[in-house]
Amino acid sequence: MAKVHSVTKRFGILTAGGDCPGLNAAIRGVCRAAHDKYGMEIIGIANGFRGLIHEDTKVLNPKDFSGILTLGGTILGSSREKPFGVGANGKNGNGDKYDDITDKVSAIKETYSKLKLDCLVVLGGNGTNTTGYKLSREGLNIIGLPKTIDNDIFGTDRTFGFHSAVAIGTEAIDRLHSTAQSHNRVIVIELMGHKAGWLGLYSGVAGGGDVILIPEIPYDISAIARHLEKRAKNGKLFSIVVAAEGAMSVKEAEMDKKERKKYYQENGPSTAYRVAREIQEETGMETRATVLGYMQRGGIPSSSDRVLATCLGTAAADLLAKGNYGRMAALLGDAIGSVDLSVPEGKVKNVPTDHYMIDSARAVGTCMGV
Ligand code: F6P
Repeated sequence: MAKVHSVTKRFGILTAGGDCPGLNAAIRGVCRAAHDKYGMEIIGIANGFRGLIHEDTKVLNPKDFSGILTLGGTILGSSREKPFGVGANGKNGNGDKYDDITDKVSAIKETYSKLKLDCLVVLGGNGTNTTGYKLSREGLNIIGLPKTIDNDIFGTDRTFGFHSAVAIGTEAIDRLHSTAQSHNRVIVIELMGHKAGWLGLYSGVAGGGDVILIPEIPYDISAIARHLEKRAKNGKLFSIVVAAEGAMSVKEAEMDKKERKKYYQENGPSTAYRVAREIQEETGMETRATVLGYMQRGGIPSSSDRVLATCLGTAAADLLAKGNYGRMAALLGDAIGSVDLSVPEGKVKNVPTDHYMIDSARAVGTCMGV
């Protein structure tokens, strides 16, 4: 089949930040369309930006991106390397000092030109797309793709990885229901979501959590306790409390970062265990904690994430073909489009406290922590 004309002849592709289900589906989407439709050459970069710094790369052939649609993780490997130092989440990720930023950025630029890339496709979250934007300001051609289980990237209505993680969170809540009910216990389940509460909110509503705690709404333990006691009085002797890992009490929210760090060192870093202890102290009810942790982002992608990742991937290939650089492929309502890379730069898309799901959760009797 004759190839369609493409401005981009050769590009690099990397995955950076925390992995998520759907990364391989997106890699396949970009690479298949870029190779089969447009005849581009593809260079796979290992372990995120670290592979660019250390020139850890290889040519990707069709067999490399075949049979990977349903695979979890990323065939390219990932790292939290942040060549510009602090990312949107404030972490450098590598324990590096920032005094080598210039070296890292020059190394990236050198590898980019040595490999004769026309563009670099970066699949990642806020930090990765922010790095992509900064590299585009350094003169590199960049196209971003929005992945994260946290769903907290500005410019896209959804990120791939989120739907799979919500399904895992929901299943965990379903399973906890039966054991909580059998033992008349309160069970606090901690889901990921350090800054944004989308995962906790969606999984909590889908799983019928009795209490949902998200970082955007600091909680009052006595409001939670009264809610659980009221349930018990009405004959519901068990309850499920869904807590995002970044959920915090009103008191914790008032602390500055340093004070909060100290408080967590003294009271335990796990949100679920802290909240469970507070509930037990406040109500006397037998309370247990469960932390879902990395299970939340491992394994196969859901059908919905496979579709979204594939469509965002092929959209990135179209951007490459047109030479439409400095963009992030995005879900815009019911359509696939793109936004300028400056849109997600340095931001976190939080749950608005007047979001319709919060109203709905409250309307079905869920306590949102206050
Ligand atoms: O991928 C996003 C995320 O899952 C956050 O919810 C969480 O805070 C973070 O990753 C933890 O991942 P890591 O330990 O890899 O930094």
